[in-house]
Amino acid sequence: MAAQLLDGKALSQQVEMELKVRVDALLKQGQVPGLCVILVGEDPASQLYVGNKEKACNRLGINSRTIRMPADSTQEQLDEEIKKVNADPSIHGLLVQFPLPAHLNASRAQTLILPEKDADGLHDINTGKMMRGETAPIACTPKGALYMLKSANIPIEGKHAVVVGRSSIVGRPMAMLLLRENATVTICHSRTRNLGDYTRQADILVAAIGKPGFITADMVKEGATVIDVGMNRVDGKFCGDVDFDAVKEKAAYITPVPGGVGRMTVAMLMSNTVEAAEKAFAG
Ligand code: GUN
Repeated sequence: MAAQLLDGKALSQQVEMELKVRVDALLKQGQVPGLCVILVGEDPASQLYVGNKEKACNRLGINSRTIRMPADSTQEQLDEEIKKVNADPSIHGLLVQFPLPAHLNASRAQTLILPEKDADGLHDINTGKMMRGETAPIACTPKGALYMLKSANIPIEGKHAVVVGRSSIVGRPMAMLLLRENATVTICHSRTRNLGDYTRQADILVAAIGKPGFITADMVKEGATVIDVGMNRVDGKFCGDVDFDAVKEKAAYITPVPGGVGRMTVAMLMSNTVEAAEKAFAG
């Protein structure tokens, strides 16, 4: 039986509708939420993400600013831009788009952002709070993936969730969020031996690897939920980390690419920004 699609497009539109009500309430009081993205260099995928973020801000009435810096910018120049935005009261959410050019220090940039303006939820303080289960902005992609599971009423508690990928942006926070929801969590990565032995045990399988079609049907348990975080470009077309056509015949639920988790990432960025603006205006 073919899996049920978890439709990120429809769900992100619903999230936006709910956020729009909150933005309108702020705007009515003359309070305009603001999101700033700093983009260094010309990475094509990053350009696309940043364009999508700008469009989402425009749909919601959030003030959107993009600071574009040349690829050969220095760490000092990047630091300076972050500090300026930190000090600007019209901006409530800030993110530095990754990947940064190799000579720039991503952790330094991330940690220079004021924790209360950290739209990405990747500041040390916010990841620490998340680890402890305290309220903090949460990394947008894992937050969006969890939102998809919860909206579809897919049980998490007591289930075996297997996350393939251990990046700071996706794999690690995803595993922590699933743990917070009382899943039994396994994290696999590029050095994991006999990967299929783990993925075949997954009730919830999250693929965040960055290799097109890497998760094949023989690696998936019948009736599993498969969340595909991959965003790979093959022959000019986007595809995920999961061999979608084959896996959908085995899984109970699956996210498509495009139209899956990617849409939710942008929606969660908007959510983190609105949340930060509400807090800032509340004083
Ligand atoms: N590049 C790809 N995904 C992300 C993300 O969630 N945040 C940032 N800052 N850069 C990214």
